[in-house]
Amino acid sequence: MNNTNIQSLIQSLEWRYATKVFNPAKIISADIWAALEKALVLTPTSYGLQPYQFILVQDPAKRAALLPHSWGQKQVVECSHYIVFTARTEMTPADVAKLISHTVQVRGIPAGSLDFYRDMMLGDIVNGPRGKAAHEWAARQCYIALGNLMTCAAVLSVDACPMEGINPAEYDNLLGLNGSGYKTVVALALGYRAEGDKYARLKKVRYSHAELVRTV
Ligand SMILES: Cc1cc2nc3c(=O)[nH]c(=O)nc-3n(C[C@H](O)[C@H](O)[C@H](O)COP(=O)(O)O)c2cc1C
Repeated sequence: MNNTNIQSLIQSLEWRYATKVFNPAKIISADIWAALEKALVLTPTSYGLQPYQFILVQDPAKRAALLPHSWGQKQVVECSHYIVFTARTEMTPADVAKLISHTVQVRGIPAGSLDFYRDMMLGDIVNGPRGKAAHEWAARQCYIALGNLMTCAAVLSVDACPMEGINPAEYDNLLGLNGSGYKTVVALALGYRAEGDKYARLKKVRYSHAELVRTV
């Protein structure tokens, strides 16, 4: 990586902010959106289990219905693209079997060669102590996807607002998730900032490098 790339990465991260007011007339182009969806799909997860689904909510009526369950935050209806991150409610042997058979197919390897890996996953996130909190674990994978998407969006000069200020249970109702095996975790509004959004001009509030990064 040369210096220009290093500088442009930092510039993108300084440029991004949690956008409060989107310009509803500015829509993310199809090619940029395709790249952002690709970035979502390429997100790494623990064991590679991908225990999530990303729901792109583009129906204006659905967005309007979500608004009162989003602390009234207008980003939900004004942004170009609205993504709801949902995580598996539990992890089952079927989740593990699905990954194993997909890996066998993609890599063209004998199924038996993954027995050890399969048993490791089953003994941990399905039947092990962590299995009891598998939804929390799956939700953490959602946050990796969220961070990944926010950074990729910034690099492509797309604005975004992460949204934890939502009512996940109401989202589940409105998105028909009950009984689906997935629950709402967090959301991300994406698009382009409105000129008048005063938050764009605020200085970043971050603790010092020395406080946040320790070398031992
Ligand atoms: C997981 C998460 C949830 C957030 N939820 C909201 C939200 O519901 N509404 C909002 O306006 N900002 C929300 N924010 C934005 C943060 O307040 C903001 O990222 C933080 O203050 C740092 O500011 P900056 O992103 O502008 O640099 C959220 C941020 C994160 C990472």
